[in-house]
Amino acid sequence: MPSYLLDNRSLINNIENMKYTAEDLSYDYNALEPFIDQQTMEIHHDKHYVGYVDKLNAALEPHPDLQDKSLEDLLKNLNDIPDSIRSAVRNNGGGALNHAMFWQLLKKDVAISGDIATAIDERFGSLSEFKAQFTDATLKVFGSGWAWLVVANGQLEIVTTANQDTPISSGQMPILGLDVWEHAYYLKYQNRRPEYIEAFFNVINWEQVNEYYNNSK
Ligand SMILES: [Fe+2]
Repeated sequence: MPSYLLDNRSLINNIENMKYTAEDLSYDYNALEPFIDQQTMEIHHDKHYVGYVDKLNAALEPHPDLQDKSLEDLLKNLNDIPDSIRSAVRNNGGGALNHAMFWQLLKKDVAISGDIATAIDERFGSLSEFKAQFTDATLKVFGSGWAWLVVANGQLEIVTTANQDTPISSGQMPILGLDVWEHAYYLKYQNRRPEYIEAFFNVINWEQVNEYYNNSK
């Protein structure tokens, strides 16, 4: 158990069963420099992400039946969640899942290849046209939210969600996501969201996107 989780867990009382656990990064906090800085990764992962996981566990603690479900199942079927904790599961479960996915989508120096390269060319015309459309959508996210490349009805689509909502709750399968909460970029980029989006395109782990894409079929 990583020490940051133990430290953070002590902030929330009465948690007997920690069903969901925060995933460690599979790389160093500074691995994405200079595009995403070390301090942002430390705070983003250890505080924001771990906080979502802890709050999700706290919300589910009185509901052991729900703890047996996968996070994906919970978020696919939000209407089945009791009213009293639906918002907590939507926000913190979404935060837990979105970030767990986001960490895996980041890696420097991975060129696009494989089926996803072909699919993007077919759907958008070219990688640069995809990038332009994705950037445009991301810039239009008002306040906190995410931009996504999803598979919906067998087709690639660019969508955005507010807060920590996940496309999974709408029946879509996210294969690439960009966190545009200010906590994801403010330390380095302040209000310059366009620069952060540009930087993101240097750290997309296209091998992982390709794997998600093939798993979606
Ligand atoms: Fe975030």
